[in-house]
Amino acid sequence: MRFRSFFFSSSIFSLSHSRSPSLSSSRFSSLSAAMSPALEKSRQGNGGCNDDSKSKVTVVGSGNWGSVAAKLIASNALKLPSFHDEVRMWVFEEVLPNGEKLTDVINKTNENVKYLPGIKLGRNVVADPDLENAVKDANMLVFVTPHQFMDGICKKLDGKITGDVEAISLVKGMEVKKEGPCMISSLISKQLGINCCVLMGANIANEIAVEKFSEATVGYRGSREIADTWVQLFSTPYFMVTPVHDVEGVELCGTLKNVVAIAAGFVDGLEMGNNTKAAIMRIGLREMKALSKLLFPSVKDSTFFESCGVADVITTCLGGRNRRVAEAFAKSRGKRSFDELEAEMLQGQKLQGVSTAREVYEVLKHCGWLEMFPLFSTVHQICTGRLQPEAIVQYRENKL
Ligand SMILES: NC(=O)c1ccc[n+]([C@@H]2O[C@H](COP(=O)([O-])OP(=O)(O)OC[C@H]3O[C@@H](n4cnc5c(N)ncnc54)[C@H](O)[C@@H]3O)[C@@H](O)[C@H]2O)c1
Repeated sequence: MRFRSFFFSSSIFSLSHSRSPSLSSSRFSSLSAAMSPALEKSRQGNGGCNDDSKSKVTVVGSGNWGSVAAKLIASNALKLPSFHDEVRMWVFEEVLPNGEKLTDVINKTNENVKYLPGIKLGRNVVADPDLENAVKDANMLVFVTPHQFMDGICKKLDGKITGDVEAISLVKGMEVKKEGPCMISSLISKQLGINCCVLMGANIANEIAVEKFSEATVGYRGSREIADTWVQLFSTPYFMVTPVHDVEGVELCGTLKNVVAIAAGFVDGLEMGNNTKAAIMRIGLREMKALSKLLFPSVKDSTFFESCGVADVITTCLGGRNRRVAEAFAKSRGKRSFDELEAEMLQGQKLQGVSTAREVYEVLKHCGWLEMFPLFSTVHQICTGRLQPEAIVQYRENKL
């Protein structure tokens, strides 16, 4: 199925290939001999891969969540007749300690040994270190990298995406431009000229990788048809996806909850207990809702009760990496920097909450809203050493 492209953005800031469906022979030779029957069929040219009516999916990103997203999509692409079997995954190339390239290892072992060790991605996933080549001919692009790299990726792809292409962003974060905040889905839409949905939710990647039941929310604008297609592409019996007509609300939930997770980590590091943590989660959710609605008046209250809202706040404050690193930061009484702890504890994976806290602070300052959002502004000031971690409970909540 192919789609017509459309996009628009509405906020108070007015923010506003012939990819061979069959793989090149060298790439094929790098895959192991035990190829899936579906991929073998496509290699022989009788797998329907030359059928232009089928959607071709490329996953842009291959970290922890990127690899799990590729696994989910790959299992569905093999089952659904409207998709090509092959799923490309763009890999930011890295050389592993044994001297091998990550891309080669993924194609040889079918495993992302650095970011998702021990999990087979599906033999129809093909890792490609060449961004342009990876997206060439794809008409469904799944963006899933840490948000700080998205501007550079969009610039590299500028002018390279042609035809009816649809995108979805799994990226949690925002860019702050001088005109105001720019959500990642808007960045993709504006820079590449394509419509972009979002998928967010209570999704700790390692749990979905081992097929523990989870839910997610697809945020869309315009026609429901494309949202249903993304839902179909991601859904499995253990991953239940619900569409919501509210891109900005869904994306802001996914973005802002990382700041709340940092606050929850401070509470854990200071051993303040469950009541305090519950209070921080409630205040955080309230600030998420208030800021989302100030930025985008169209945001719906009901979105905060979807997986992308309250459920993601809960999971990320109980188990996510932002919480974990913030806990270590508070335990060190701020003597160890987030950069140092991120490098030591995450080994290549990226924290999003600290940079999002800075970006949110810039927006609040720019708009004169700092006092209305004491939790968000306090988190940034603790991260930058201006306040001690204990300050996370030393403010009076403003009633919005
Ligand atoms: N991991 C999770 O549990 C999870 C769950 C839901 C959403 N997310 C979101 O998904 C997005 C991607 O996170 P992830 O967990 O897949 O990544 P990650 O933090 O596990 O990995 C970092 C990735 O960035 C890549 N990278 C490093 N330098 C780069 C550069 N200069 N340019 C481009 N890429 C570079 C690395 O190769 C690696 O693929 C983030 O926005 C995150 O918030 C993550």
